[in-house]
Amino acid sequence: KPDGHTITAINALTNAKSIVQVSKKERTLKRFKREFNLPQNAIDGLRNAITACDRPVKQLQNEADQLANRLEQRRFPESPENLKKVRDEVKRKLKSGKRDEISDFDKEAFGGKVQEAQQYELRNEVDKIMKKASFNWKPLEITTKEGAGAYSLARLAPNYAEIARCLEEIPEDFQPETVLDYGSGSAAGFWAVNQRWPMAKEVTMVDISDAMTKFAMDSLRKNQTSPDPTGKPFVHDNINFRRHLLPSLNTTYDVVLAHRVLSEIGSSETRLQLIESLWKRTNRFLILIESAQSSAFGGILEARDFLLTQGTTVDYRKLLIDLEEKVMLSPKVVRIVEDYNLSDYEKFVMLKEAIPAGETLPTMLPTA
Ligand SMILES: C[S@@+](CC[C@H](N)C(=O)[O-])C[C@H]1O[C@@H](n2cnc3c(N)ncnc32)[C@H](O)[C@@H]1O
Repeated sequence: KPDGHTITAINALTNAKSIVQVSKKERTLKRFKREFNLPQNAIDGLRNAITACDRPVKQLQNEADQLANRLEQRRFPESPENLKKVRDEVKRKLKSGKRDEISDFDKEAFGGKVQEAQQYELRNEVDKIMKKASFNWKPLEITTKEGAGAYSLARLAPNYAEIARCLEEIPEDFQPETVLDYGSGSAAGFWAVNQRWPMAKEVTMVDISDAMTKFAMDSLRKNQTSPDPTGKPFVHDNINFRRHLLPSLNTTYDVVLAHRVLSEIGSSETRLQLIESLWKRTNRFLILIESAQSSAFGGILEARDFLLTQGTTVDYRKLLIDLEEKVMLSPKVVRIVEDYNLSDYEKFVMLKEAIPAGETLPTMLPTA
């Protein structure tokens, strides 16, 4: 309807009714840039770092092209359960297609050696098919300067474009002071941040690979012919390079960026632990970027769902203890907490209204 829609929701167990009025908001469409080219100082930095490598540039470029192809075909890591399902299906299809199955008599022959050989062959065939279908995820492990050089040659420009495009989504009047780039790799995130917010006071780059960090440091060094009077070696006065996050949660950042890092982590549980850890260090924006593959988008949705549900799941134990200590615990709050007919989200909404004014509702994670 032109004046909006009314949506009525009824809780089947309690018969509680909620009516939501949805109205259309005039949207002003923002025009986004379509091209994001690497700034000249990023190109110069890459050239400096590449020439410091021990391999001829042509050879590095060749390795970069091969790596780019490999990365393009690589899938987001599948969960072990999914992998097993696909494997079992491939195995079943292969088995059913085999006409020359050995007989029960043959299976016993030569002390089971024939059967063993057949199973070995089947396993090999399954492996080959899985690999062909790109179910061959491995983390990108960069351990040498040349490896970092090849990665940067292959990915610095596209990574920069991806990140720069995403930063455009952030309101124009927002100006961060501190930025964390987790899994900073080729420093594409630094260049995109530096271009969008040249006034950012501090950029922290975290990458588990020493080789990658050293290469990025080389590419971010000032182009000096004579000693710099300020004594600051990098193109930005305040860049920190780290291998891990600072353990303390007291250090937080206005913007936290994690670009193509979730796809480096094989297990969903570890990915969500990382998301939790990054979220706890985020003051305003957590930016997650993955490739355009649908499985990678699944990884982003998984992270988003996790943050939305954890942020609206009340830590009931803490709530009850806190309110009791302050002698503010009302029977209404206890009733809501103990009502098994309500979902966590319903409890979250009702408790927000039921707790005394000025009290905050403790949730499993800060609410997104
Ligand atoms: C695909 S690259 C990301 C690219 C990077 N954002 C860029 O623009 O170049 C992934 C990076 O994450 C780093 N990495 C992988 N696992 C990590 C982890 N658990 N913690 C921190 N960094 C990690 C890798 O060393 C690599 O440099």
